[in-house]
Amino acid sequence: MGNGILKNGKKGLVAMAIILIAFWLHSCKTGEKVAVEKSGAELWSEQCSRCHNMPDPTTYSDDKWETVSMHMKVRANISTKEIELIKQFLQSANGD
Ligand code: HEC
Repeated sequence: MGNGILKNGKKGLVAMAIILIAFWLHSCKTGEKVAVEKSGAELWSEQCSRCHNMPDPTTYSDDKWETVSMHMKVRANISTKEIELIKQFLQSANGD
């Protein structure tokens, strides 16, 4: 008799633990989603307008953007990942 209750109790505890872990994993995933990556275009409009007017993508050719990106990465302290996205956006939007 008492044995049966104990078993159920244990099952309940395991189920509870699984639910808690599921929630925990889920909340971690949600946390990641909140910090979701911005697009190159978004980063461009945010980052590249801090010090001067937003540079028009059509101003430079692909390889000029390569150089400018490296220059502004250092100058503006932009992460490698972000400057890469900005550069890709600029290069894709310049019509070359
Ligand atoms: C921390 C301030 C700052 C930020 C942020 C910044 N720039 Fe600049 N940018 C400058 C300054 C200062 C110059 C003047 C030229 C120099 O630095 O030699 C300049 C010049 C430029 C020029 C002219 C060409 C050249 O290389 O000198 C371009 C194009 C340019 N920036 C693009 C960008 C882009 C694209 C971004 C975003 C990734 C950006 N900038 C972000 C400060 C900044």
